[in-house]
Amino acid sequence: MYQNIAEEKFNNLVKNHKNKDILILGIESSCDETSMAVVKNGREVLSNVIASQIDIHKRFGGVVPEVASRNHLMAVNNVLTEALEKANVTLKDIDAIAVTYGAGLMGALMVGVTYAKSLAFALDIPLIKVNHIKGHISANYIATPTLEPPFMALVVSGGHTAIVKVADYTSNQLVGSTVDDAIGEAYDKVAKVLGLGYPGGPVIDKTAKEGEADLKFVRSDALKSTYNFSYSGLKTAVINYLHNLEQHGKTPNIPNVCASFQAEAVDVLVEKSIKACKKFKMKTLAVAGGVAANSYLRKELTAAGEKNGIQVLFPPMVLCTDNAAMIGAEGYFSLINGVNLADTELTATPNLHLKYDVLKK
Ligand code: KG4
Ligand code: ZN
Repeated sequence: MYQNIAEEKFNNLVKNHKNKDILILGIESSCDETSMAVVKNGREVLSNVIASQIDIHKRFGGVVPEVASRNHLMAVNNVLTEALEKANVTLKDIDAIAVTYGAGLMGALMVGVTYAKSLAFALDIPLIKVNHIKGHISANYIATPTLEPPFMALVVSGGHTAIVKVADYTSNQLVGSTVDDAIGEAYDKVAKVLGLGYPGGPVIDKTAKEGEADLKFVRSDALKSTYNFSYSGLKTAVINYLHNLEQHGKTPNIPNVCASFQAEAVDVLVEKSIKACKKFKMKTLAVAGGVAANSYLRKELTAAGEKNGIQVLFPPMVLCTDNAAMIGAEGYFSLINGVNLADTELTATPNLHLKYDVLKK
């Protein structure tokens, strides 16, 4: 019964989206942020409430999955109330719900997915399933209201590092990706060995500003002619350097280690993503994911874009790291293109991959 009503409403929204405002409630709980947002027509954020658990996980040196799930559970009701209040709407005004169903932590995702399913069922409105990575890319539709595919996306988060050609709202083509660790993961691990705490990205970003990139952490040349990345070797090189110093009773110059690691980690992103834009004739490069908040990446990539006639887009900080506004935006573009309607069987999918179409030259 619910499914028929939801499907009918979904089809009506697809048909009438040009004549009617569509309000989507986005729900995100894939890692350590409980977030809900009300997004109008995919581009306008009426509210974006983020309950971060960073302070809770800090004392463990990283995200503890079970602790994350429990805190999502405790936060969801208040986050919803606040998201509706800030948007000045009630649940009756919501046309559809969009939820992250992967990738992420199983227990954490389950809280958001179950909550979204229950709400959609109770309100008799469509539920749209969203891939977290597509959500990150869609943050750019909010930040740059004129942005439309095709464009190149550089996805840099705690779990992903990839250059993706966004051919259309519903079609992505993979240009290159990491062959091992994600860049955000490397930031977090290096910060941990340096004793700088969690999460590693912001603290390395800040500390690097006080140092000089005077150390060479050798990187393999094996991937040089490709659009792929490797971060495991760089991370190991930093760890070995630190252990070596320790064995000789010396202390590292932490700002210089941070600056040198960051230069190695980021310069390759700049070089390869600009090269990819030229090769695939893309005039716009949209950056997505938590590492898009990095000040060195923002500076270097913007400069490289200017030099090469490529428009480089970065979402504002709050839309770079995990948030539900980007999920609401992605849900909208799925909806108006008639895809990703979920049913009550939807389950959290921790290892969800982005589906890629054949890369067209
Ligand atoms: O996108 P995100 O919030 O979660 C995932 O989907 O993974 O990304 C989190 C990652 C973490 O690894 C964090 O250290 C990194 O983004 N990050 C940064 C910065 N802010 C967050 N990395 C470098 N510089 C930053 N300023
Ligand atoms: Zn994320």
